[in-house]
Amino acid sequence: MSRQPNYLSYRVLVFVGVIQVITFVVAGEPQVPCYFIFGDSLVDSGNNNGLVTLAKANYPPYGIDFPQGVSGRFTNGRTVVDIIGQLLGFPKFIPPYATATDQEINTGVNYGSGSAGIREESGSHLGDRISMDRQLLNHQATISRLLALQNNKTFTDEYLKKCIYLSNIGSNDYINNYLIPNTYTTSTTYTTEEYATVLVQQYSQQLQTLYNLGARKLAMFGLGQIGCTPAEIKRFGTNGKPCVEWINDAVKLFNDKLKSLVDDLNSNYSDAKFTFINLTSISAPQGDVPLPNTPCCEVREDGQCVSNSSPCLVRALRVFYDGFHPSEISNTLIATRSYIGVIPADTYPYDIRYLARH
Ligand SMILES: *[C@@H]1O[C@H](CO)[C@@H](O)[C@H](O)[C@H]1NC(C)=O
Ligand SMILES: *[C@@H]1O[C@H](CO)[C@@H](O)[C@H](O)[C@H]1NC(C)=O
Ligand SMILES: *[C@@H]1O[C@H](CO)[C@@H](O)[C@H](O)[C@H]1NC(C)=O
Repeated sequence: MSRQPNYLSYRVLVFVGVIQVITFVVAGEPQVPCYFIFGDSLVDSGNNNGLVTLAKANYPPYGIDFPQGVSGRFTNGRTVVDIIGQLLGFPKFIPPYATATDQEINTGVNYGSGSAGIREESGSHLGDRISMDRQLLNHQATISRLLALQNNKTFTDEYLKKCIYLSNIGSNDYINNYLIPNTYTTSTTYTTEEYATVLVQQYSQQLQTLYNLGARKLAMFGLGQIGCTPAEIKRFGTNGKPCVEWINDAVKLFNDKLKSLVDDLNSNYSDAKFTFINLTSISAPQGDVPLPNTPCCEVREDGQCVSNSSPCLVRALRVFYDGFHPSEISNTLIATRSYIGVIPADTYPYDIRYLARH
């Protein structure tokens, strides 16, 4: 009998409920003065709303459980980075770059953009997006604004070193690039091994750019098991297995290389701390009651929710909200275990709480 693929279990959900209460207790004085976010739809909080692209989530039923409703977040409630921000003690969500005012940028900016990748072309068949290179240019622009506002270069330089920099990117270099051979040439140019190597090389350059822009506390999320997302299972089938194994194998190559990159960066830049967050470990099924991994909302061909459709009622018991994106309850689990690692595999070598305090 084959077990349903799942990321969570009932037992884990009970744990999450406890941590959610703690979230509100620790909120108050932020542990770091600022928090900058880079990435794709897993972190986007509205940067794509004004872009011409299919990759946007500024319509219901996205945001049904979010305090401000629809915002451009690709889930029913808060994203992983929203929850990490609360755990760090930020009283407000970090604003999207697209709308951040001078008053807001002191505490950080969210540059994330749905369908964006490490590679410039990733996601292009869906329309516009802000690639990782462009997010770094936007960060440069933010720093210029901060320099003007704070009016003391020494102060701003020291300030930027105290911030947390979180990056969650790379999924679209698979989902909206390598896995679409009719549109992109990467899968004919590279083996999965070679592709993981070139992606991590490019990411390495990008992270060094971020270091050169003052970042000293950097957390990189590894990729989730893309072969277990409802949309890829539907597209490729699983041959009787719970997930599309060859996709997970390809993604594991990337994750292993990213973890090695973290080691290299830590030894080459001894005044900085880089860490790897292991989503495979954090999302591994641990309990006895598997959750269904069918999407909560009614999905379009591309895996996103159908506009104005009615989502499932018991959202706390779904791993995925749409065909690709985790529900808020999954995001809560991921955020809490990135913040305080539960088992050694979760974060390497530091959890985010340690990054914040050292
Ligand atoms: C600029 O910031 C530095 C570091 O915080 C501080 O020591 C210095 O006094 C500041 N300079 C001015 C002119 O305020
Ligand atoms: C780290 O330094 C070594 C030795 O200089 C170099 O070969 C390597 O490319 C560097 N790696 C990174 C990620 O900076
Ligand atoms: C992530 O955790 C999983 C499960 O514990 C482990 O098999 C895998 O090697 C880890 N990945 C990395 C890159 O450390």
